[in-house]
Amino acid sequence: TFSTSLLSYRRPGEPPLVSSWVPFIGKALEFRKDAHKFLEEQRRKYGDVFTVLIAGKYMTFIMDPLLYPNIIKHGRQLDFHKFTQEVVPSTFGYPPVLDEVYPGLWDQIRRSFQLLQGDNLSPLTESMMGNLMLVFRQDHFDQDGGWKTNSMYEFCSSAMFEATFLTIYGKPETGSRHVEMEKLREDFVKFDNVFPLLIAQIPIWLLGQTKAIREKLISYFLPQQMSRWSNMSQFIRRRSELFNQQGQLKDVHKLSSHPLAHHFAILWASVSNTIPATFWAAYYLVKHPEALQVVRQQILDVLRDGGVEFSPNRYTMLSRDQLDKLVFLESSINESLRLSSSSMNIRVAQEDFALRLDAKRSVDVRKGDIIALYPQSMHLDPEIYEDPQTFHFSRFVQDSRGKTDFYKNGQKLKYYLMPFGSGSTICPGRFFAMNEIKQFVCLLLLYFDLQLEDEHKHPSLVSNRAGLGILQPSTDVVLRYRRRAQ
Ligand code: HEM
Repeated sequence: TFSTSLLSYRRPGEPPLVSSWVPFIGKALEFRKDAHKFLEEQRRKYGDVFTVLIAGKYMTFIMDPLLYPNIIKHGRQLDFHKFTQEVVPSTFGYPPVLDEVYPGLWDQIRRSFQLLQGDNLSPLTESMMGNLMLVFRQDHFDQDGGWKTNSMYEFCSSAMFEATFLTIYGKPETGSRHVEMEKLREDFVKFDNVFPLLIAQIPIWLLGQTKAIREKLISYFLPQQMSRWSNMSQFIRRRSELFNQQGQLKDVHKLSSHPLAHHFAILWASVSNTIPATFWAAYYLVKHPEALQVVRQQILDVLRDGGVEFSPNRYTMLSRDQLDKLVFLESSINESLRLSSSSMNIRVAQEDFALRLDAKRSVDVRKGDIIALYPQSMHLDPEIYEDPQTFHFSRFVQDSRGKTDFYKNGQKLKYYLMPFGSGSTICPGRFFAMNEIKQFVCLLLLYFDLQLEDEHKHPSLVSNRAGLGILQPSTDVVLRYRRRAQ
């Protein structure tokens, strides 16, 4: 039974309401400061299911991962897309995709996500490998072979941003790299820094230059520019066709609410999480040389099995099948995602109803209430993951294969790692993301000896993106790297 000693006007049968002295703001400030800590405290006080008033919205958190499957499979009464449709268009600056205004467009946009998966993943992966190799060769392979230093975040960010951009949007008309890439990334970072505020619906005019910066970013995708790019992914080609049919594309004066901003939204989705995820994956391996050694050896073995003796003087290609065989690398990346991810899965109640939690329990929810899963609590649960704050690179390996059985209360968990969300809102780019992080780490480990300049420094997680994806490091670290001789 739920605690009754609450200052609550909620009805009997509803989850306990976490009380707050500031009714409108609710617990937003505490939540933003450290969401994981805040939710753990409430769980200790109120149990596995409780409601918090956050920024004017009633949010019911389901904290027990054994209850996740019931929420994730819940159909009609819990809507998946309503929440995103309310906040995402105004964040990126495209008009809401309403069926009345754009008949059929919403479904076609969702169908375009298939072009990131299945058979379509192979050309994307191949193209990403070539682009990463290009960036590594031109920016990081100098001849003298001595030690160099660089900000590790900057290293990951510049390579992943540019190679991802080239893979998804294509190459410029002349040359193999877009000349404006550094400027584009600079503007992108400025936008990304205020993203948590925009998505929280802070009006853009309160955020300094953000509106102008966003328009500049959107204008990068004007048809007269994009039409000159070659090697564009099927995914973006298909989406361009869809938006070109909307007929407003020439009106550059309306860049604050423009269909072209969909391209910018995809740029954001494709790099904003991938960059910090790549940082953490690379960082943890360099920090743990014994793990790095095992991961590197497996990459060399997989190449050798494919008939290639690796040489640091040659171009390297790893196929999609070969990437699938790198179970130690995959486990390391999963382990760094477990430690750094903080995404929130949100559903909106479509009517007043009793939400079934398990065979014995249900709670009443009201129309408009938000039901939220917060997987970071599961990722850091010592009952599921022993010694949860520590990086164990082989945590997700068992008998030379990916490990999938994790338990709570003696019961096997259906969901145990959710950096990419769940159910029908799960990230459509997750397979591509995993492959590109693998490719980056492979190149880093194959071509370089790697060290951290200060081995004792350990960045913590910045929590201002809690609920939004992969958290960024609180401080950067300095990477020392040198071309490997053999
Ligand atoms: C959505 C995570 C990389 C494209 C999402 C969501 C999460 C996520 C948590 C929201 C799921 C939800 O609402 O429940 C990540 C992480 C990545 C990554 C952790 C990297 C490590 C990518 C890449 C692409 C991509 C590389 C594209 C190439 C998208 C898109 C959506 C999305 C288009 C919106 C889907 C929709 O509207 O339903 N991602 N993502 N993501 N992601 Fe990713």
